[in-house]
Amino acid sequence: MNKSPGSQIIGRFLFRPLMQTRIVQVIDLQTDLQEATSALKCDKPVVMPTETVYGLAASALSPVAAASIFKVKNRPVDNPLIVHISSYEMLKDVVELNEQDQPNIPDMLMPVLERFWPGPLTVLLPKGPKVSDLVTGGLETVAVRMPRHPIAKALIEQSGLPLAAPSANLSGRPSPTTAEHSLADLEGRVELILDGGKSSFGLESTVLNALVDPPLILRPGSITISMLKAFLPNIQIYKTGNGLEDRPPTPGLKYRHYSPEKPVILFYNHEKVDKHIDDWLSECKKIVRLVNDLNSLKQTPDTRYSSIVLSNSGDPTEIAHNLFDGLRAADAQNPDYIVCESVCEDDEGLAIMNRLAKAASQSVY
Ligand code: TXA
Ligand code: MG
Repeated sequence: MNKSPGSQIIGRFLFRPLMQTRIVQVIDLQTDLQEATSALKCDKPVVMPTETVYGLAASALSPVAAASIFKVKNRPVDNPLIVHISSYEMLKDVVELNEQDQPNIPDMLMPVLERFWPGPLTVLLPKGPKVSDLVTGGLETVAVRMPRHPIAKALIEQSGLPLAAPSANLSGRPSPTTAEHSLADLEGRVELILDGGKSSFGLESTVLNALVDPPLILRPGSITISMLKAFLPNIQIYKTGNGLEDRPPTPGLKYRHYSPEKPVILFYNHEKVDKHIDDWLSECKKIVRLVNDLNSLKQTPDTRYSSIVLSNSGDPTEIAHNLFDGLRAADAQNPDYIVCESVCEDDEGLAIMNRLAKAASQSVY
């Protein structure tokens, strides 16, 4: 098949670029966001950096804008989007209002928002009528987050629009933590990518449903259950098999996520890693291993084996920061297998394991 520059094979189809994509370095928040702001006001999507991962942003109030997000990402339309705001005032455009014309937010949630916003926490709230039904997939709740990243904040403020933004990757691929990752997935599909450097957290926000009792973490992130327990003592983590299946989970759970193109093998039993790698090398397979600490560096003269170090010391914050970049870099080496190892599921480790388990095509116990 002839491939023109920027074209990608998606499933059985060849995608031909629809437009030229430009990366814009944002240095001055007053002048460098003007083009992006105009695009958003015309219902066009723009890639923006956030402190978690890069987002594909468009007006949450416009069905045309929301539809473009699903199209650009190849995202299933029943998987709703997070709406990003820059102030509490903006909640009035997004959330259902009570009799006092104030956003209808459960009392026990206010201290949680005051503590963790702006930041990597998304909460479900009753949906207001101005938000496009496409954004919420027809649900009565809307997922809302106030990001901390200065570029995301300024973009929302300057456009005056609440922005629906999923991670700025093609559906199913690892979330982007740099402008280049987004370009690799969305070249020819979006006009502007705002470059704000590497995302500081590297994993997507914690998604919390505190509209149910007990409150549920639908997606673990860097705001951990122990941080939230101080405010919501009976909070639980949604997991299949923990008796909470009758609860409304997050629609995103049913989709494959975070997957490089090459098979990811996740080792829960770390003692088996070296033996498996030796066996694969003897079968002439090419292996890339993601290393969580320097103790797992393997010395071998075999050039078909290479390592990508996520952290020297097993530090979960560092592993989270580098994980998606590591998965993409491993994929780019075109190996037969990408080898990863489990981490302890405490605190941030839970979010890392959630993403690794979804990326893995096989687990070894
Ligand atoms: O850090 C993040 O959250 C990033 C940045 C860009 O803000 N965004 C992100 O969006 O990760 P996305 O679309 O990749 O993930 C949103 C998740 C999905 O699992 C979706 O199903 C869930 O949030 N979600 C959105 N609205 C929901 C709702 N009303 N009820 C339940 N789950 C919802
Ligand atoms: Mg995503």
